[in-house]
Amino acid sequence: MSETYILGIETSCDETAAAVVCSGEHMLSNVVSSQIAVHQPYGGVVPELASREHLRAIVPVVRRALKEAGHNYQSIHAIAVTQGPGLAGALLVGISYAKALAFALKKPLITVNHLEGHIHAVLLEEREKGNYQIEFPLLALVVSGGHTHLFLAEQRRSGWGYQNIGRTRDDAAGEAYDKVAKLLGLGYPGGPIIDALARHGDPHAVRFGMAQIKHGNRGVPKDKQTPHDFSFSGIKTAVLRYVELEQMREGVAARQKALAGMAKPKAEDVLPLCDRKTLNLVASFQRAVVDDLVSKTLEAAREREARALFVTGGVAANSELRERFELEAAKEGLPVYFPSRKLSTDNAAMIAAAAFPKYLAGDFAEPEFSAEAALVLR
Ligand code: KG4
Ligand code: ZN
Repeated sequence: MSETYILGIETSCDETAAAVVCSGEHMLSNVVSSQIAVHQPYGGVVPELASREHLRAIVPVVRRALKEAGHNYQSIHAIAVTQGPGLAGALLVGISYAKALAFALKKPLITVNHLEGHIHAVLLEEREKGNYQIEFPLLALVVSGGHTHLFLAEQRRSGWGYQNIGRTRDDAAGEAYDKVAKLLGLGYPGGPIIDALARHGDPHAVRFGMAQIKHGNRGVPKDKQTPHDFSFSGIKTAVLRYVELEQMREGVAARQKALAGMAKPKAEDVLPLCDRKTLNLVASFQRAVVDDLVSKTLEAAREREARALFVTGGVAANSELRERFELEAAKEGLPVYFPSRKLSTDNAAMIAAAAFPKYLAGDFAEPEFSAEAALVLR
């Protein structure tokens, strides 16, 4: 089969990204322009600022992705863009630019669901390593700042099909990391900082009971039920209550003040600002979240007789989550795959990779499509 070069564009949240991927299995470039510094003072993504930053970055990011891949606008075969889910204004920047490019270059345009992109990040890297042996059905845990979903994926004649069998009822796991980091004055984004600090604390110091979700599917038609749901807002509230009860407010304020003076605080900068109680709290929080993600995912894998497990999305970069999944899945003889840390968080290589089966199937976008903030993956 001849080689197909797809330019991927991703602007669903706070990263402006473009990449060129050959036939869904070889990454030629992967450019990510992060807006973390812009959103840091607010402790979360500010949608209006995100759109503005995407506008600023989109043209140079796409140019760099083509250049680093040794390509130009003419030499690519198709353009792929994230249609949703995500921030509507942010998505629109990528979509408008991709539409204009496709129209001017007379190249096909392919829309990709951001969550499908995260799943294909794993596949792309496995294929790069020469692994074509992944068995179906595979169960994918997509766990990031905006999402916590379990998808059962099957390969169909034209592309892939997905069944959503679990989702968060409230906060996404990454959102819980970011909110807990914010309320403990640890900086933004919370995931990487908590990941690093948790190693220095006792994960058994504070006991958190994770939400047991029952009867949530009563009255919901069987094909729409998501029996393996998650919930992370309770643990965030429990951390807040612990901070109040243990009178940790002063320490939090002191940390916030110290970090406000630093341009890009790293975990090494935050560690000396944390007492034992804070480190124990952080370690216990992470242990509870990881336990919950691992146990519910493996339960779903057993029930659905999954033959492989994908763990992907920003939170998949978490070291404890990776270790625990590897350990527990091995006990069940279930192969588990993660993307590299670079492809765990938002990027456009995953969008270009997910577009390849659609390219082969001739599944191209209608000219009038628009951003869909709550796009469902099927
Ligand atoms: O996939 P992503 O870049 O964007 C979304 O689609 O949401 O994920 C970002 C999320 C943030 O919530 C961030 O705190 C979290 O992933 N994250 C982590 C780690 N690295 C990033 N969470 C836990 N441990 C990490 N090492
Ligand atoms: Zn994402």
